Amino acid sequence: MSGTVDQYGVVGHPVAHSLSPFIHAMFARQTGQTMAYRLFDFAPEEVDERIAAFFAQGGRGLNVTLPYKLAAVARATELTRRAQHAGAVNTLAMREDGTILGDNTDGVGLTQDLCVNQHLVVTRRRVLIIGAGGATRGVLAPLLGLEPELIVIANRTADRARALAAAFAQLGDVQGVGFRYIAGGAFDLVINATSASLTGEIPDVPVAVIGPDTFCYDMAYGKGDTPFVRWCMELGCRTAVSGWGMLVEQAAESFRLWRGVRPLTGPVLSALTAS
Ligand code: ATR
Repeated sequence: MSGTVDQYGVVGHPVAHSLSPFIHAMFARQTGQTMAYRLFDFAPEEVDERIAAFFAQGGRGLNVTLPYKLAAVARATELTRRAQHAGAVNTLAMREDGTILGDNTDGVGLTQDLCVNQHLVVTRRRVLIIGAGGATRGVLAPLLGLEPELIVIANRTADRARALAAAFAQLGDVQGVGFRYIAGGAFDLVINATSASLTGEIPDVPVAVIGPDTFCYDMAYGKGDTPFVRWCMELGCRTAVSGWGMLVEQAAESFRLWRGVRPLTGPVLSALTAS
């Protein structure tokens, strides 16, 4: 790796669609940091060796996206607590002593968006997370850290929800159920963490979980409203937002880890959601 410019990038497969280069370029301009940030599409059979080579050649940091967030755990010398909880890594950072720190900024990206950008109070509120895959696992510890009254994880496959709830039971009141067994009426916050949006589907949860005052959050994002956001609005909830803020906030937290400065996220969010 040549030159004096610090090298960063995002590893995925495929990764061409990633907005991370755009986001980090805006952060770098805004904070006056000189750095390069590139896309790395590594095939599964070469990803371990290519990540190792990137750092061996002086690379400073990587974001890791699908499908490598779990595999990246083994590329780190040490994991942050939140990466340990998530069981997945979305950020690798070369440290002064030559060791590589593995972090997961997805959860703090979500809580930052909810609490700071959306001004939502989660403490002592009832939270429903739909889905029990990697996306849910990644955000559970930071969400429980906000001390909600209760987090219900509801999943199409109930066993996965129960297993995930059991794994986090020490951090707060968290329950796992199948869709049909979600009880207690409308929640204060409902988060869609399923991959149902990829196929334009809506998770088959009882409509009673969403009331007019429920804050609905879709971790997915796209041009215009996501199907889940549209569905929540049709059910009469006043606030339903998609996951653009989480995307930008998790990136800002990675940037802070690498460069020691936290960029402003508002201008980047505006640029991404304009038009
Ligand atoms: P990720 O890492 O994105 O969370 P994952 O581990 O494959 O991906 O998990 C996908 C989640 O979306 C799961 O909770 C899955 O439910 P199942 O465990 O029952 O498979 C959920 N999901 C995907 N498509 C769905 C759909 N059409 N309706 C409801 N849930 C869906």
